Amino acid sequence: MENNKMCVIGLGYIGLPTAAVFANQGWQVTGVDVNSGVVDMLNKGKVHIKEIGLEKVLSKVIEKGSFSAKMVPEKADVFIIAVPTPHNSDLTADLNILKNAIRSIIPVIEKGNKIIVESTIPPRTMSDIVTPIIEESGFDTGKDIFLAYCPERVLPGRILIELFKNNRIVGGTNTLAAKEAADVYRTFVEGKVIETSAESAEMAKLMENTFRDVNIALANELTKISEALDINALEVISLANEHPRVNIHQPGPGVGGHCLAVDPYFIIEKNPENAKVIAESREVNESMPAFVVDQVKKLVSKTSKIAVFGLAYKGNIDDIRESPALKIVNHLYSEGYKVQAYDPYVKQEQVQFQLYNYEKALRDADVMLILTDHNEFKNIDWEETKCLMKQVNVLDTKNCVENVTENINYYNFGNLYELKAIKTSSPIY
Ligand SMILES: NC(=O)c1ccc[n+]([C@@H]2O[C@H](COP(=O)([O-])OP(=O)(O)OC[C@H]3O[C@@H](n4cnc5c(N)ncnc54)[C@H](O)[C@@H]3O)[C@@H](O)[C@H]2O)c1
Repeated sequence: MENNKMCVIGLGYIGLPTAAVFANQGWQVTGVDVNSGVVDMLNKGKVHIKEIGLEKVLSKVIEKGSFSAKMVPEKADVFIIAVPTPHNSDLTADLNILKNAIRSIIPVIEKGNKIIVESTIPPRTMSDIVTPIIEESGFDTGKDIFLAYCPERVLPGRILIELFKNNRIVGGTNTLAAKEAADVYRTFVEGKVIETSAESAEMAKLMENTFRDVNIALANELTKISEALDINALEVISLANEHPRVNIHQPGPGVGGHCLAVDPYFIIEKNPENAKVIAESREVNESMPAFVVDQVKKLVSKTSKIAVFGLAYKGNIDDIRESPALKIVNHLYSEGYKVQAYDPYVKQEQVQFQLYNYEKALRDADVMLILTDHNEFKNIDWEETKCLMKQVNVLDTKNCVENVTENINYYNFGNLYELKAIKTSSPIY
């Protein structure tokens, strides 16, 4: 393969698998990261992130000499930028890391190079921020450099499969750049590689996650309305979804993760006057932790013990970034509850409060509060639970328990109205 030198900037969840896959497909890849610990580990064939199959591919490409990790960029034909794009405290995108990464390749880029950004960015970032940095260094992005945005939509845990199978959107800052960048992915992607403008690609990436956030907000809003009107929200969703063209999402304790809970703000910041539904949806989803705590308050008094089951933002993973469960735990503590949190995937060093094992979390608890749909929570051993808990109240915000039995007090988002009766009749309030 001619012109097959590639430099991947940022060797995290996205950059490292991407670099390893290209190296395995015949590209000569230099991976660059500012973290010297990461660079040292990778050159020894060890991987610093959890991803199925990644260490095996990495060892293979290091052995055959097609991948090496460095701390500074080198000359290449193609540059892929996969650095983080966190948000500031006012929820606008912090593009400083991206700008530094682009500036770091300026000394080594040459005419004819392709520069592809994969980091998630607000709309118009390629034209308003990236293009000027390249042009200030004397290159004409209209003819010297091919500049494109190619968003990533892989699912952690399936990255090595999805890098091959998923359809890719490649947005060029002009049509030739789109084609040149798309051809890079066509060297191994089995899905469709669709050429478009950088602006459309930027917005499409954000709208994928925003679509899901807005739809979850709709389900959460339905939950609140149903609770007020004594209606079973979960039954309503399943009935409405009998319509061939309706797919109401499932409600829950809020929305977490580094994509769904973050990306909509990248749209809002660029056009707040019009991003009304998107902003309201964020507010609805952000209000859910307080709504969950309100349900707990109806169920038991503030000195009670709450066995929190699940801290990760979604099932069967250890990721707690932006997790609503953390907000709920902190809120419960601030209200005076005793919290005994358990998550089979999350380790003590990831959180600021004490974690318990399964048995200790349930011991003398008044409520089992399920916040994540881990497989481990689907079939609870009720006999053991009854022995451990002071009273068997279960509030399942993910509607994930499959073996509900009659002699427990089980609540999910379908029968929250029953808690109102408890509040009004209970002597503890
Ligand atoms: N992880 C995902 O599932 C996912 C999915 C879609 C999109 N994205 C987007 O992809 C981008 C990267 O995300 P990630 O999860 O891979 O991040 P990450 O934090 O796992 O990795 C980023 C790496 O970049 C390195 N880095 C920072 N500045 C650098 C610089 N100037 N030069 C070289 N290396 C630098 C960091 O040390 C880190 O190792 C983000 O914009 C993210 O929103 C991530």
